[in-house]
Amino acid sequence: MTARGRLPAGAFESLLLSLVSRRSERTGVESKVADAVDIGGLLGIRAKARCDLLGAPPYSEAEGQLTRRFLTSAHEAALETLSSWMADAGMSVRRDAAANLIGRYEGERPGAKALIIGSHIDSVRNGGRYDGPLGIMLGVDVVEALRATGRRLPFAIEVVAFGDEEGSRFPASMSCSRAIAGTLDAMALEMKDAEGVSVAQALTAFGGDPAGIASAARKPEDVLAFLEAHIEQGPVLEAEGLALGVVTAIAAQKRLMVRIIGTAGHAGTTPMNLRKDPGPAAAECMLALERICRAGTDGLVGTVGRMTALPGAFNVIPGAVEFSMDIRAETSATRDEAVITVSAEIHAIAAKRGLKAEIQLMQALAESPCDPSLMGLLEEALTDLSLSPRRLPSGAGHDAMVMADLCPVAMLFIRCEGGISHNPAEAVTEADCALAAQAMLHFIDKLERRERA
Ligand code: GLV
Ligand code: MN
Ligand code: MN
Repeated sequence: MTARGRLPAGAFESLLLSLVSRRSERTGVESKVADAVDIGGLLGIRAKARCDLLGAPPYSEAEGQLTRRFLTSAHEAALETLSSWMADAGMSVRRDAAANLIGRYEGERPGAKALIIGSHIDSVRNGGRYDGPLGIMLGVDVVEALRATGRRLPFAIEVVAFGDEEGSRFPASMSCSRAIAGTLDAMALEMKDAEGVSVAQALTAFGGDPAGIASAARKPEDVLAFLEAHIEQGPVLEAEGLALGVVTAIAAQKRLMVRIIGTAGHAGTTPMNLRKDPGPAAAECMLALERICRAGTDGLVGTVGRMTALPGAFNVIPGAVEFSMDIRAETSATRDEAVITVSAEIHAIAAKRGLKAEIQLMQALAESPCDPSLMGLLEEALTDLSLSPRRLPSGAGHDAMVMADLCPVAMLFIRCEGGISHNPAEAVTEADCALAAQAMLHFIDKLERRERA
């Protein structure tokens, strides 16, 4: 392995050169960052380029798309290359028992409390390149900018790549940040993927240590705060012409699996009135979910993202249909009320058709407010850059909501094109990434001032 990980020799350097030559084309808001302390004009811009590089095999499980699920060879490849980038930025690099990759830039005093900057390296299936990795790569750029001026702080900075925010391989998510926050329960390690492999088995094969997972938990007294930069994944900032926003809180969510059970049969010989077909019942249930959430308040949303008819053949009436439900709202109370109403409707729909329904809760995350004092520092950072300090909530889930159990958290949102995310069309501009890195540096300045006071 070279210092540049798995990239062909010279590939990264030529990418940087092409970026440098494009700097002269940048105009307007970007020029604000040109004179600031940065890394040869590439602060934040290199972070975006690195996300782009990680958007294809070996960093994706499939050609022509980005799918990087937890504990796969694509995850491994991404961690190897990211390790070399962290080391190049002057960090000591390690992996913990839960397969988190952690780079540490020591403070003035060895062993000082850490400001953790991070996000997730995994993706949804056929996802975008920036959801998650951008927050990590921005952290690496920010550390490199500090190192470039030889600056040490009264706290350490740790950049963390969490492995499992999306839950795209196993039914639950955020096991890596839960391990760091010390809130991962043993059951999460027993969850199985579609091939029947458990988290514990996959983690062992990856070089992690399920039996020693408790060692990944950080002590609250060792952590100063957590900062996550992330694309907004919604349209608000773009609609208002704003590059960045300060997150106020992250919505509550529940993941449920529903199974409607009927009787498998021959598609040609069983008259319609004599069937016990869970297919149309599942369709009715999905319409009920849509109706209930449309009528809801407090940002209530419901999604069926996965459905399977079993055994799954043209000529077989399914014996069972399974589908996932993701239900979110600004408050746990609104979310739970919707879960209760939807569950009652599902049971009623199944009963009316002579079928059985089973509903299993896979994951529950309470709403998670960001820390008011850190939000204030982020707002001041945006104001320093002559940016309007827009506050907005997050409907998407983030590792920050889990880290909030460990320490105060702050989140910086970055505008993304059309608000599109969980889609290969996800896009951000270099200018916005450069501004985000600058905002993070200003936030660190303010945190330093606060810690020294
Ligand atoms: C992750 O992106 C989620 O909101 O589920
Ligand atoms: Mn996501
Ligand atoms: Mn994300």
